[in-house]
Amino acid sequence: MNGMARRYAITICICIIVVDAFACIQYHLIQNHPFVLSHYIIPTLVGAGFGFLIARIKILEIKYHKEKDQVIEKNKKIHMYVGTIVHDLKSPISAVYSLIELLQLRDDLKSEKSQKFLGLVKSSTESMLENIHLILENTKFESGKMQAHLEQGNPFFTINSTIDKHLILAINKSITIQRVIDRNMPDVEYDKQMLDRVLSNLISNSIKYSPAQTQIKIFSELLSDKLNLVVEDQGQGLSEDDLEKIFGEFMTLSARPTGGEVATGLGLSVAKKLAEEMGGNIWAESEGKGKGSTFKIALPLAPH
Ligand SMILES: Nc1ncnc2c1ncn2[C@@H]1O[C@H](COP(=O)(O)OP(=O)(O)O)[C@@H](O)[C@H]1O
Ligand SMILES: [Mg+2]
Repeated sequence: MNGMARRYAITICICIIVVDAFACIQYHLIQNHPFVLSHYIIPTLVGAGFGFLIARIKILEIKYHKEKDQVIEKNKKIHMYVGTIVHDLKSPISAVYSLIELLQLRDDLKSEKSQKFLGLVKSSTESMLENIHLILENTKFESGKMQAHLEQGNPFFTINSTIDKHLILAINKSITIQRVIDRNMPDVEYDKQMLDRVLSNLISNSIKYSPAQTQIKIFSELLSDKLNLVVEDQGQGLSEDDLEKIFGEFMTLSARPTGGEVATGLGLSVAKKLAEEMGGNIWAESEGKGKGSTFKIALPLAPH
């Protein structure tokens, strides 16, 4: 007898015994009836029915868990496979990027046309590298290998160096970045690299989804138990539907890039996982379409 049939048989027998035992107590001990075999037909059928149902539910539950484990395992393998391929792409694309930087410095390529062409190739390569980073980070999370190396300290320099990295991008789109970051902000608990990645995602999005001649304001808010880092833009804003979906994987929403940039919808889902891995949080606010967006990262204050 296989395992499933044995489970059915055992559960049905146990249920029949239990229901018949109740029937026996009822007929003989309480009502003092003489023993009549036909009195046990209905209790036995009821017991068998219950037993069958219970065994069926249990078997379906086991099957469900088994299939779920198989899907999780398969998913992990796919992520590992994608991770390996994407990782192998990183080196050649980084080499192409460095080569473009060298070509931009060559005297025989100083003409406006050549520089414009090289600039376009450079920004496409940059966006490919950014997507490679995001896919690798996502794969690391999926395989449980992404861990924060938390330290306690003032994030002032990390924040400023992250903002600095985006200045050229903003200038190229005639967007100004205003920063109001206090040098003496309190110590927080954070992972420098992760904070850089989360903030980078927010700033690059604000640049990507804002039109020219707008401003991005980056500032901090001190609350009793946390420090909020805020990125506020005057871009396309977010609808209620966007706000609900915005941190989901591969969510490209109503706002469209204003400078022909690529949208994959992976950045904010990774940013959320990174913020939470640091013990913090991230969320979006907007008064609606066309009214700009505000993104906030909350970091826990370091214990005194
Ligand atoms: N600052 C912003 N203003 C308006 N929409 C935004 C902003 N940031 C993100 N979005 C919307 O959220 C979606 C998801 O963002 P993200 O996960 O970073 O992916 P991507 O940048 O590749 O599109 C974007 O496609 C965009 O529609
Ligand atoms: Mg993005």
